[in-house]
This record gives sequence, C-alpha cells and structure tokens, in this order.
Amino acid sequence: MNILVVGGGGREHALCWAIAKSPRCTKLYCAPGNAGIAELAECVGVGVEDIAGIVAFAKSAHVDFVVVGPEVPLVMGLVDALQAAGIRAFGPDAKAAMLEGSKGFVKDLAVKYGIPTGAYRRCTDRVQADAYIREQGAPIVVKADGLAAGKGVTVAMSLDEAFRATADLFSVPGAEVVIEEYLEGEEVSYFALVDGKHALPFASAQDHKRVGDGDSGPNTGGMGAYSPVPALSADLERTIMDKIIQPTVDAMAQSGTPFKGVLFAGIMLTKNGPKLYEFNVRFGDPECQVLMMRLKSDILDALEATVDGRLDRLRLDWHPGIGLAVVMAAKGYPGAYAKGTEIQALDKANAQIGVRVFHAGTRREGDRLLADGGRVLAVAAVGASVAEAQARAYAGVDAVDWPDGFCRRDIGWRAVSRN
Ligand code: AMP
Ligand code: GLY
Repeated sequence: MNILVVGGGGREHALCWAIAKSPRCTKLYCAPGNAGIAELAECVGVGVEDIAGIVAFAKSAHVDFVVVGPEVPLVMGLVDALQAAGIRAFGPDAKAAMLEGSKGFVKDLAVKYGIPTGAYRRCTDRVQADAYIREQGAPIVVKADGLAAGKGVTVAMSLDEAFRATADLFSVPGAEVVIEEYLEGEEVSYFALVDGKHALPFASAQDHKRVGDGDSGPNTGGMGAYSPVPALSADLERTIMDKIIQPTVDAMAQSGTPFKGVLFAGIMLTKNGPKLYEFNVRFGDPECQVLMMRLKSDILDALEATVDGRLDRLRLDWHPGIGLAVVMAAKGYPGAYAKGTEIQALDKANAQIGVRVFHAGTRREGDRLLADGGRVLAVAAVGASVAEAQARAYAGVDAVDWPDGFCRRDIGWRAVSRN
C-alpha cells in the first residue's frame, strides 16, 4: 500500500516509524513531515490545513490509505474530502470530529446519554458566564468552546481568575464559552480505537502538561508521558469503557454521525469514579510516541480494521513493560524561544538500550540538524518497570548534545512514587 501520514510532529514521526515496520507498507509519504520523518518517508511540502492540496497529492501519488495526525484537518473535514475522492482515511469525519471541535457539544451529549462528567453551562455572553461563575464559586474551569491549540482552558482557583478568563475569551466577537465544574483527582488519558460501532481498548497514559518539575509553571502541549498508568486498575478501565467510551460510540452512531478513529478521553479519577472532562479525536502528542514504542502488533492492521469496521475481530499485542517519553523543548518554551539552534549526537541517544528519539520540530540544513519549534524532540524508551523506562529515557536525553534545549527531569514521578 502507498500510505500518507498527515502532520509533522513527534506523534507523526512515531506513526511513520510504526507504519514503516509493516510488511504491507510499500511507499510512505508524510505531509509536511520533519527531519526525523524524512529518514523514513518522503516528505511532501503540503501543510496540514491545505485540504485540497492533500487530496490532490494523494490522488496523484496513488495513495491507498491516509492517516491523519492532528485535530485541525479532522475538524476541517479532511477525511470527508478524502472519502469523496475514494481514498480510505483513518480519522473521524468533520461531524464526528465535533467531539473535539466543540466542548459544549460533548457536554450536551454526555448529559443526554448519562455519561459521567462535571456540571457545566454553555455561555454566549460574559454577563451570563460571570453570573454562573458567581453562583458556583471557585475553583471553576473556563474553556473556549472550539479548538484552541491547548490554550483555551483556565483552571481558575479564584473568582477573579475566572472573571479574567471570561473577559479575555469574550473580547473576541461571537465567542462561545463553557464553564465547568472543577473535577478533583488524578488525570488519566484513555485511548480507544473506534470503528463506528465497536470500541477496542487501546491504552492508558499520563501526560505532564506543566512546563516545570513538580508540575509547576505554565501549561504546554505536553512535556512527557508514560503508559500504561499503574493507577488505573482493570476495574476502573472497564468502567471507563462501559460508562464513557461505549456510550459515546453508541450515541454518535444513533445520531447518524458515527465516530471512526481513535477516541482519546481526558478522564479525572474522582472519588465518585472516573469522570470525562474532554475528548480528543486523535492520538496525543507525546502519548503516541509511547504507545507506538509499546505496541508489538502491526499498527497498519489496527488502523485499517478501524476504518473497515472490523475491530471486533482485532487483537493487539503489547510490550509487557512500561513506555515513557521525555520531551526536549527549546529554552523559553512555552513562551518565546530561539529557532535554528543546532542539535547533535542523536545517534548516541538512539544507541542507548530501549531508546528511540522522535523528532517533533526539526529541520536539516546541509548536514546540520536544527531545532524548528517549541517542542523539538521526544526521547522515548521502554523498560520492565516505570523506573527502568525512566532511567533509560533520561540516558537517551543525556546523550543528546543540544545546549539550547531543556526538559523536565521528573517524567513519570506519580507512577515511580507509587512503587
Ligand atoms: P485541555 O487543554 O482541554 O487538555 O485542558 C488542560 C488541562 O486542564 C487538563 O489537562 C486538566 O488538567 C485541566 N482540566 C480541564 N478540565 C478540567 C476540569 N473540569 N476540572 C479540572 N481540571 C480540568
Ligand atoms: N498531550 C496532550 C495532547 O496531545 O492533547
């Protein structure tokens, strides 16, 4: 098969790495890709939001199967456009991508179908939002309804902080905002493959959203992750599947907008059980890097079974241990940072036991490898225990020669401290 992966981050590097291992992959393309992906795939200079450009390329290159990494093209209808052109694609169509594209849509669906989630109010003006916030009290969570690249959420510890967030969001005309109950507990990301009808448990993971050690500092796209999550018992996992994932799959099918792809649930393990706080309709980044390291089965089989509605017959084999990834970012991230600084010695990092370095934001200039984004590398490792995976990943990090980069030194601390 000729395969096209859409995206250019660490998630897409991991997807390309896993897909390239499949004996059925003849030719691999990636749009737009990055310097690491270029070692595995032919990179195509088409941006992820250029829907017409992607479809035109896929047709001209006789692409048989497309795997869409990021949420923006999914919400824009890339899968719909590919389907209309007769090309099979992994990912939800635009209507099903509303599970990530509108937080209010998910909340309404959760309440209608009895899916456990926190109380909320959808608001279209600031006065209404602030009145509800005053009524509920702090802590409280304020969210932009639509996609916001991880920047639309304020977990407000005081009323003033919440009012500042609504003032900010409603400064944009036509803004829609969701005010949500603050859920207390441990956060878990839960991934399931969904073929429209069947949901297949894929994996649990835990991200580290804050930039600094000990979960300090501002939020980021994710500074590291590990999988599976020891805090998630088999019982809790079943509860998530039975009370959150499958009811959502059924609800989408009943509404005439069946979901196909990977459903990524943001779950809070509250004292009253697992509660949903958001859905994403794609793999997480850097969670995907960890999942691809752990997965032993052919990923292409899983992606195709998802598209073809055969997940009830699919079995997955996993590495028995733990996978963990540490993100290396440009100094200054998530604020202003320098681009174009040189990275060396990735071969030494890749030579460490159990380690693989995925590129997130890199480009090549001659034979020099340069940083080209905020999150630049994800150093991933598998090990028998979380402590071993962590030690291996940091051995990889320490082998990288990049004076202008930094990382958190405590990825996996919750799981390590539990042992
Ligand atoms: P998001 O950008 O939507 O992933 O949200 C960013 C972070 O906000 C999440 O990782 C959670 O830590 C937190 N969060 C979102 N919704 C809630 C909620 N209802 N209660 C508590 N924390 C939340
Ligand atoms: N790492 C979180 C996300 O991909 O949304």
